[in-house]
Amino acid sequence: MSVKRSRILALGGYVPSNVVTNHDFKDKMGIDTSHEWILERTGIEERRWAGPDDSGALMGATAAREALDKAGLEPSDLDMIVYATLSPDQNFPGTGVFVGRELGIPGVPCLDIRQQCTGFIYGLSIADNFIRAGQYETILVIGSEIHSTGLDRSTNGRDVTVIFGDGAGAAVVGVSDDPAHQILSSHLYADGSEAEILWTEKPGSKYHPRITAQDLEEGRHYPKMQGRRVFKHAVTRMPEAIKAGLAANGLTMDDIDMVIPHQANLRINEFMTQALKLPPNKVHNNIQRYGNTTAASIPLCMHEAVELGKIKPGDLVCLVAFGAGLTWGSVFLRY
Ligand code: UT7
Repeated sequence: MSVKRSRILALGGYVPSNVVTNHDFKDKMGIDTSHEWILERTGIEERRWAGPDDSGALMGATAAREALDKAGLEPSDLDMIVYATLSPDQNFPGTGVFVGRELGIPGVPCLDIRQQCTGFIYGLSIADNFIRAGQYETILVIGSEIHSTGLDRSTNGRDVTVIFGDGAGAAVVGVSDDPAHQILSSHLYADGSEAEILWTEKPGSKYHPRITAQDLEEGRHYPKMQGRRVFKHAVTRMPEAIKAGLAANGLTMDDIDMVIPHQANLRINEFMTQALKLPPNKVHNNIQRYGNTTAASIPLCMHEAVELGKIKPGDLVCLVAFGAGLTWGSVFLRY
């Protein structure tokens, strides 16, 4: 019996309507920063932050409905939901069950995963492998994040707070026996030896209590990042993951039609583009308008590239990410 193969059937995206500009940090929040600093160091001009009616599950379900519509499918056609986030709506249960509830599909299994900025890459790999194994045929992969409710809106948190945005992206993955439209490979990596260079320490179940008034005072519930160190890893690991995918598929850099990198910092992606000698028009970025939306960034960016006609059916697409954990990886696919 031949192994079934999978493809991305369609994508969807959703961002909250509330736009936060670089100027807003200083003008509205009183943070000691500037539009020029943020633009020069990150390429970000604005991002979306959730309003009171947004939730990770609702945003994810909205992106999912678009992807399902575009694939000509109904929620009832889904066999599984994989939901990637570092910002779950609640501590437990995972947010995936709320997406299933929103889509009206009781009984459909869901798997919540973390893996931060690499969450969508891991999620696609999981979906691809469930399909290859023959257990399921149609799987929804969602990356959805609300960072804004957990950011330090004072000058202490300015390095992290200015880069993150909220949003959701979704892909419907289905069976494909056509080599012109298939997921070719996934390469996944993790190394916890420097986990603390990008993390939110508390609340955490290893602490008694999980969080104290003093922790809150000290801002231990806010994300902390050693930016330079993370930057260095990102510009090393993402090219490595791309090269691993190319080698495994017997492809060269010239074969790639479009790279969709995780949107953490435009400078990281420009550095990577130059290092790999990729023509800039073969790399799509939209961090300028959405900031770093972590697990949502790749599906949002790929969705946009498809809508703009920059990715066409049959194109060789490389998705690549690096993030907290540390985790990184790539997926190669023919769209
Ligand atoms: O998605 C997960 C993966 N995340 C990433 O890949 C992010 C990787 N890192 C980065 O993108 C960059 O390191 C940042 C954009 C976060 C920071 O840029 P940087 O060029 O590495 O700046 P830095 O952290 O070395 O800080 C340089 C200066 C410092 O001031 P002093 O010590 O030189 O006086 C910071 O305090 O810039 C200061 N600074 C700011 N100034 C104005 C840090 N954040 C800000 C800010 N506005 N928002």
